[in-house]
Amino acid sequence: MSKVCVFDHPLIQHKLSILRDKGTSVKEFRELISEIAMLMCYEATRDLPLEDVEIETPVAKATVKRIAGKKLAIVPILRAGLGMVDGMVSMMPNVKVGHIGLFRDPETLEPVKYYFKMPPDIEERDVIVVDPMLATGGSASAAIQFLKDDGVKHIKLMCIIGAPEGVERMQKDHPDVDIYVAALDDHLNEHGYIVPGLGDAGDRIFGTK
Ligand code: PRP
Ligand code: URA
Repeated sequence: MSKVCVFDHPLIQHKLSILRDKGTSVKEFRELISEIAMLMCYEATRDLPLEDVEIETPVAKATVKRIAGKKLAIVPILRAGLGMVDGMVSMMPNVKVGHIGLFRDPETLEPVKYYFKMPPDIEERDVIVVDPMLATGGSASAAIQFLKDDGVKHIKLMCIIGAPEGVERMQKDHPDVDIYVAALDDHLNEHGYIVPGLGDAGDRIFGTK
């Protein structure tokens, strides 16, 4: 069974409280999504392997730790996942980025795929799939299945807000994928929105409503 980590760090929780507020502007919303993703990235990469490297400081020779050449990729689920990319790239400037375009059919709530572009060696990389919202879990589950079909073996899912329904779906479909969220909310409403949530993440990032 996969692990579910809720990042309850005060900085993340404070920023999330502003993100949820319906009065928050598009500019501030974008900045907050990016900052929260950066802070979550810091925690979600805690298990990256380190190796010893010999260097010389201005004072003496020293053995120091560096990340051990782990091949990573971030895969945002379009559109809203794009809002999380900059914050993560600022922490990992050389990380490769793949894109999966999915939208949720408003009637059936089923994900519809419209774009898929990965780095050529994606099957050799550890992947962090990012999307601010894990609602029914349909989009995340489908995105992860596309990656597995492409040969990816190690996948983590990082969302800002998760619903219990989405976590349950993910654990059923992908018990090998650990889930990182900043908050686990109460439930989904009849339109598949997370309650209390933050509304439609894509619309709030791109100002489309
Ligand atoms: C939102 C969100 C997730 C999905 C979550 O995207 O960003 O991808 O819904 O819902 P689910 O867990 O029930 O699948 P949306 O379909 O609104 O597309 P957008 O990002 O282009 O706005
Ligand atoms: N997608 C969103 O953007 N928000 C929700 O609450 C659910 C799905």
